[in-house]
Amino acid sequence: MEHSSMFTLDQRDARSCLFKRANQQIRISICSEQLIRVCISNDAPLARRSWAVNRADDAWEALAWSVSENSDSTRIETTKLQVNVAHADGRITFNNLEQQPFFSDVTPASYNADGWVVRKQIYNSEHFYGFGERTGWLEKTGQHFLNWTLDPEPHHSPRIDNMYATMPVFMGLQPNLCYGVFFNTSFRSSIDVGAADAALLSLKTQGPDLDYYVVLGTTPAEITATWRELLGAMPLPAYWALGYHQSRWGYDSSMTMQAIADELRARNIPCDAIHFDIDYMDGYRVFTWHPERFAQPAQLLQNLARDGFNVVTIIDPGVKTDPNYAVFAEGIANDYFIKRADGTLFSGYVWPDDSAFADFTRADVREWWGNLHKKLIDAGVRGIWDDMNEPTVFDRPFSEGGGNGGTIDLNAPQGSADERTTHAEVHNLYGLLMARSTYEGLRQLRPNERPFVLTRSGFAGLSRWATLWTGDNSALWEHLEMMLPQIANLGLSGIPFVGVDIGGFFGNASPELWARWVQVGAFLPFCRGHSCSGTRPAEPWAFGERTEAIARAYLSLRYRLLPYLYTLFYQASTTGAPIIRPLVYEFAADPTTHALHDQVLCGSQLMLAPIVRPGTEYRSVYLPAGEWYDWWTGERIKGSQHILVHAPLERLPLYVRGGAILTLGPVLNYTSEAPLDPLTLDVYPSGTSEWTLYEDDGISFDYEQGQAATTTFSCVETEQTITLMIAARQGSWQPALRTIVVNLHSLPPKAVLFDTNAIEWVYAEGATTVSFADDGLAHTLEVQL
Ligand code: GLC
Repeated sequence: MEHSSMFTLDQRDARSCLFKRANQQIRISICSEQLIRVCISNDAPLARRSWAVNRADDAWEALAWSVSENSDSTRIETTKLQVNVAHADGRITFNNLEQQPFFSDVTPASYNADGWVVRKQIYNSEHFYGFGERTGWLEKTGQHFLNWTLDPEPHHSPRIDNMYATMPVFMGLQPNLCYGVFFNTSFRSSIDVGAADAALLSLKTQGPDLDYYVVLGTTPAEITATWRELLGAMPLPAYWALGYHQSRWGYDSSMTMQAIADELRARNIPCDAIHFDIDYMDGYRVFTWHPERFAQPAQLLQNLARDGFNVVTIIDPGVKTDPNYAVFAEGIANDYFIKRADGTLFSGYVWPDDSAFADFTRADVREWWGNLHKKLIDAGVRGIWDDMNEPTVFDRPFSEGGGNGGTIDLNAPQGSADERTTHAEVHNLYGLLMARSTYEGLRQLRPNERPFVLTRSGFAGLSRWATLWTGDNSALWEHLEMMLPQIANLGLSGIPFVGVDIGGFFGNASPELWARWVQVGAFLPFCRGHSCSGTRPAEPWAFGERTEAIARAYLSLRYRLLPYLYTLFYQASTTGAPIIRPLVYEFAADPTTHALHDQVLCGSQLMLAPIVRPGTEYRSVYLPAGEWYDWWTGERIKGSQHILVHAPLERLPLYVRGGAILTLGPVLNYTSEAPLDPLTLDVYPSGTSEWTLYEDDGISFDYEQGQAATTTFSCVETEQTITLMIAARQGSWQPALRTIVVNLHSLPPKAVLFDTNAIEWVYAEGATTVSFADDGLAHTLEVQL
């Protein structure tokens, strides 16, 4: 006989099991053998529409799984894991097939006046990462995370909680096991990771249901790969977007813009993009140009384009409530703006003072907004920077010092007629949907050009549409130190294309701080110098000759490394692997990496260990297992040890992983200045290793039709020889004619053979160098020692 207080397995289909008791239901969906979705509700329908999830439950491949029941519980088993549902109270527990438990309920999900809560066990020696955009260091045990987008207090102390973007995505690491959780709610929610009780992890949401995905893996890479499948893949960015971007709030005229561009070129500081902050607009009206200070935008942008600069303009969501302003008038006429619950227009203060806000949850509004970019695009704008899209509303007019970010009324109705909800549900999605509207608009306006959209706010799944930067940091050594764990955790949360304001937004960096910052900033996926109006100038040359030379050297190094970096973007796009990775990502079994926050990997082959303190020239560096090469000296060093490193101001401690085959291009002032010629293969032998270079035209979507090329290089080192094999190029895209220069780190060779024939070689500074024409065919280079 059925007990209404007990759960019973009510229905089972190819994909899920539905458990029911009097007024509660639990659905366990088996998306893959690793990925399980749990949905729990009382009266509310199960599984609300998610704006983040890119793959419906039934869009996963069919797979075999089994169910077994006894009187106490039901067990669902895949080839990787088991999920158990206790009949008495609906407690859900997970374990791998070795019976190692993870993410298991201590108290079952329950609903009260504050919403849903479920409490999970934290196991001994468990570590936590991710949680989206946060301050603080890498490992997150003992903290509480609110998921609610806002413009946080300035200076981003390690004690602040939520920031501009929200990604309720995290990773738990236990010995031999790694799992990821996506808390699928856009309502205000929180994750407590042992803050209230060291043994408990709790999920809370104000939403009407509880919905989360759990993925089990053995490595962090399996988790990020799953986020890519579930939350969507990052499309390949335009190649120019990987260059250096110069920005500042306060570049307020065409003349200033041109002068900055000229200065960058005159000083040979590589740069591909100039950002136009709010000063370019007419009274902060979005999609306008200031009639005097930016009188001839098309002319200006043409001049900048001729010098290799792509222009990115800022767009804020707030539309000035000025009936004589076309964007506002159009929005009102078509009912595109968010209204209050009483049906009157919602408006609030932002830069142009009283402003209205488009309802990006509606497809028609997104399309309208996307099309508004036409005027900018027609003038030659190449990228859009979406800001203040938490969304932030000031407490009083900007002209009267407005700030203290508030937001839209939570009970303001939003969404299309068939999907009505309130701002409470879609607040966290505002930035995501604005970015989506912008991306889709740009793509429609220039169908075969990859859009560049930068955004301050966002939600899980953002990578499909935009690049994220971490908002208004400060020129503090602490913020230099913080950026690595912040970016690493964003990468683990499914956001690979991310950067920070190099040098800090608020305040004035010292020349030393700026130099240390640009050294490591040159390796960030998104690389932009930006600063607040009213601060001292912060261009690379503003800090004196020594800092300028450091900036030039490191930005030039970035440009040389672009073929490597672009391949990392390809990896991120196709596998979900972050570009900046914490060491724990690659060395999860090594406990020394578990809390290591001040070293990161840039892809799998380079490791940075920056100096993050003033007046400091020495630091300890941890080299994980394997072999490493010092980038500067070429010294080959055994891993699994700490070393003391001397790093004067000109030097970023930088290590190459043994086995690396780094692909480098020429020094450039901007990416389109010259084709990739020569292509340098910088080879660091260690046992057997392999690397695949990815290339395409860097701008169109033709790669989706296979217009791309990959070349696989492999290296085998023995006592007597080092052999580099170049496989025939795959794919239909053809690079320009070029020379390949191989720079192979080795002892002095006795002979070097190219396809079994002797070839001319030079040995200097610990490397054997040869060059030959790249004909796209397979070749073998043998260095005999
Ligand atoms: C916000 C942005 C900042 C920008 C400023 C003016 O503070 O975060 O980057 O410069 O607004 O638009």
